[in-house]
Formats: sequence, C-alpha cells, structure tokens
Amino acid sequence: MENKKIILTGDRPTGALHLGHYVGSLKKRVQLQNTGEYKQFVMIADLQALTDNAENPEKIRNNILEVMLDYLAVGLEPEKTTFFVQSHIPALYELPMYYSNLVTMSRLERNPTIKNEIKMRNFERNLPVGFMTYPISQAADITAFKAKYVPVGEDQLPMLEQAREIVSAFNRIYKCDILVEPEAVLPDNENCNRLVGTDGNTKMSKSLGNCIYLKDSEKDIKQKVMSMFTDPLHINVSDPGHTENNPVFIYLDAFSTEEDFARFMPEYKDLAEMKEHYERGGLGDMKCKKLLNNIMQEFLRPIRERREQYEKDKSYLLEVLKKGTEEAIEVSNKTVSEIRNAIGINYFTDDSFIDKFVK
Ligand code: TRP
Repeated sequence: MENKKIILTGDRPTGALHLGHYVGSLKKRVQLQNTGEYKQFVMIADLQALTDNAENPEKIRNNILEVMLDYLAVGLEPEKTTFFVQSHIPALYELPMYYSNLVTMSRLERNPTIKNEIKMRNFERNLPVGFMTYPISQAADITAFKAKYVPVGEDQLPMLEQAREIVSAFNRIYKCDILVEPEAVLPDNENCNRLVGTDGNTKMSKSLGNCIYLKDSEKDIKQKVMSMFTDPLHINVSDPGHTENNPVFIYLDAFSTEEDFARFMPEYKDLAEMKEHYERGGLGDMKCKKLLNNIMQEFLRPIRERREQYEKDKSYLLEVLKKGTEEAIEVSNKTVSEIRNAIGINYFTDDSFIDKFVK
C-alpha cells in the first residue's frame, strides 16, 4: 500500500441506508474518495450488527447487498474504495481480545453512545456482553487498518475517543508506535451530524420509522416530505413561524443550493431570504414542503437510478465485496503480526525468545 493516509468507516447492515447516513458520512466518503489522496476502506459491520441481533441473523443477511447497493448508488467506486465484510477478517476477532484488557468496565459504562443505546433498546439486565464491548471491537476495526480518518456523525465521537485511548494505552504499555490514533471527520454542515427524522425526532432512525431511504420511490419521497413535522405553532399561513428545529428547514439547510432556488422558487434568492419570510409570517408550510420535495426528488433520482442499474448484477456486488475482503484480510494481518511481536507472543518466530528459552 502506498503511503497514503488511511480512511475507514462502516455501517451496520440492519437495513437500507437513509438520508441520515448520507449526510452524516456517505457524502464525506465520496468526497474523500474522489480526492485520490487517501486509501479508503468501507466496512459492512455485520459483527457489530449481531451484537444486538444475535437471534435475528436473517436481518443481517438480507441487508448485506442492500448496503452494497447503497454504497455504489451514492458514488463510491470499487476502483477507488475497498469494501469488505467485518465477519471475515480474522484480525477483528483477535485484536479485541488484546484490547479488552486495556479497558475497564467502568470506562465502557461511561461511553455516552452505549449508555443511550442501552436505554433505547431496553436491555436492562439482559444486556449482551458483546453489545457492551462493541466499542472495543470498533477500535479494532479502525486500528487494524491503521486508519487516521473516520468519517462519521457526531454520535460516533465517543467511539473514537475510546479508540484513541486504546491506541495510546497499547503503544505505551508495549513500547511501540504501531497503532495510529484516529480522528473523526464530521460533516461540514452541523445539521448533518445527526439529521432529524421526518417526525422531528432528534435522529433519523430505522427503529423510529422516520426515515427517507436512499432507495425510496418518487411517490414515497413525496408522501414523506408532505407529511413532515414542521413548526407546531405555525397554524395559519400568516402566523410567524420558527425555522429552528423545524425539520423542513433543517433539510433545506442540508440539501438546498442557490441553484435550487433559481430553478424551483425564484422569488427567493436563497434559503436565508425564504427563512426570513417564514419567520415574519405569510409563508405556508405547503409551499416549503413542495420546494423540499422538488429538491429531494432531484437529489435522490440519480441515486435510485444507479441503484436500479447495479441491482441487475448482484453477482458483481458479491465479487466486489469478496475481492475487497481479501485485500482487507491481508492488510489487517500485517497489523496483527506487528501487534503479536510488540506483546511478545510470537514464540515460534522470535529469535530472542528462542535464544533465551530454547537454546
Ligand atoms: N458504529 C457504527 C454505526 O453504528 C458502525 C461501525 C462499526 C463503524 N465499525 C466502525 C464506524 C468503524 C466507523 C468505524 O454506524
């Protein structure tokens, strides 16, 4: 591998990907991919998906190629990005075993993302050990590839912090500099860190049923946009409205461009002007939603069309994934052998071990 900086990210294959995934990470991945300056790995995190779906593996099987389709549909390209499946990488079983000795239980319990997810899933006493420790596994995902950059939404910041702690503990304890401290690459637009759902809930999420999927049909998109939550205090068109915390405006913020205004709503130069009118009163929700629908349709159509194209050749998808997985095994195995050397458990190949204990 040339000396390019390494990027790694992943997604749990528990459903097709949605706009939250797009603005939170996929968009950045495509941009970074196209700079040509990085070596990028994109991982389908099926092991992590199993941590709360052990009894439901079908769900994961059903979504492996769905996620691959979404990747290619948004413009990730197998010639430029390496795709692989987590469960097939031996390093990702081995490294967590070493790392888990460097992390305390109380540190895991303090991870805010885990805390929140435990609450959302009502685990209480039935919390799987594998779920509790997935931040350690995620640190392995990142470090096995020596990734420096990890494009994610801000909900993943605690995972990266934990990964950095593991890296620094490892390098310190085993007196080496093998592992690389990763950094998050967040979306440029703050609204995109955690895109609200169409219902105004703080997060777009499959389980809340408030998603617009990258593969949604024209009809579904329209129906979802037209029934979006807005400002509950904006009852009559003439009422002053709030644009803050108003999903329609949050989405416009995330997706609209000045060209969209010129094309679909020339009475405003840009979003700022439109917002001002809404806040002043006199601009109805319906009109705002129509604009958003136009913009979303334009944005999602090419993605959907590309997806349909790839859908005709599933064996190609599988081939891409298989080839990428082979490459990922090779790269991560190198890290494993360095790590075994650093810990000193490389008994059969280590001359100093043989000199000291055998000869
Ligand atoms: N936890 C991430 C999510 O839920 C998925 C993931 C697994 C990941 N391993 C990763 C993301 C490594 C970045 C890097 O979306």
